[in-house]
Amino acid sequence: MREDLERWERKYRELSTDTDLEPDPLLLKHQHLLNGAGRACDIACGVGQNGLYLAEHGYDSFLIDGSFVALTMAGRVATARGLRIFRVVADLDYFRLPVSAFDVIVVMRYLNRSISSDICAALRPGGVLFFETFNVNFLSEKPGFPRDYLLAPGEARSLFATLECLASNDGPTLQDSLSYLVGRRRGT
Ligand SMILES: C[S@@+](CC[C@H](N)C(=O)[O-])C[C@H]1O[C@@H](n2cnc3c(N)ncnc32)[C@H](O)[C@@H]1O
Repeated sequence: MREDLERWERKYRELSTDTDLEPDPLLLKHQHLLNGAGRACDIACGVGQNGLYLAEHGYDSFLIDGSFVALTMAGRVATARGLRIFRVVADLDYFRLPVSAFDVIVVMRYLNRSISSDICAALRPGGVLFFETFNVNFLSEKPGFPRDYLLAPGEARSLFATLECLASNDGPTLQDSLSYLVGRRRGT
């Protein structure tokens, strides 16, 4: 297994209890876009708080992450909450997302520029992407953080330029250390 995925695996293994986090505020703020019909996918889901939230809202919810430990935890939390989820352990550098498969996709705090067009293609026409991750302002909080994992101003919009932008915080003057984009795949 690759070193970065091993590091995540170790981090999740160190959690002493199952972690049942609140869903991301971006999803809560835009819950009017969630009609609960169809399939949702939480990409690089970690312990799966957003995928679980989407399952709770009626979606067939798929959770993908490279960490077996995190997904095992998400499975236990789902069972405890009476939710059904579908879990996939995969390295997203190699995994091929299915095309036109999801009504909602969530990507939170995970930046993999090489799969941004595959993420757009994995949405069904009319499907909505919620994308949020750290931008270069984060360097003032954590100066040593690798720049490659941080968005430049305007980058979220350019990575997902084929989507209709419904909402964004993406520069040119960045507001805080998280950039986001909510976008809809065109067509019906
Ligand atoms: C910062 S965490 C974010 C987790 C979750 N999205 C959240 O917002 O809490 C990044 C996640 O990406 C996963 N990850 C990193 N590289 C990956 C890869 N190549 N394939 C699959 N998952 C990966 C890690 O296992 C980790 O769970």
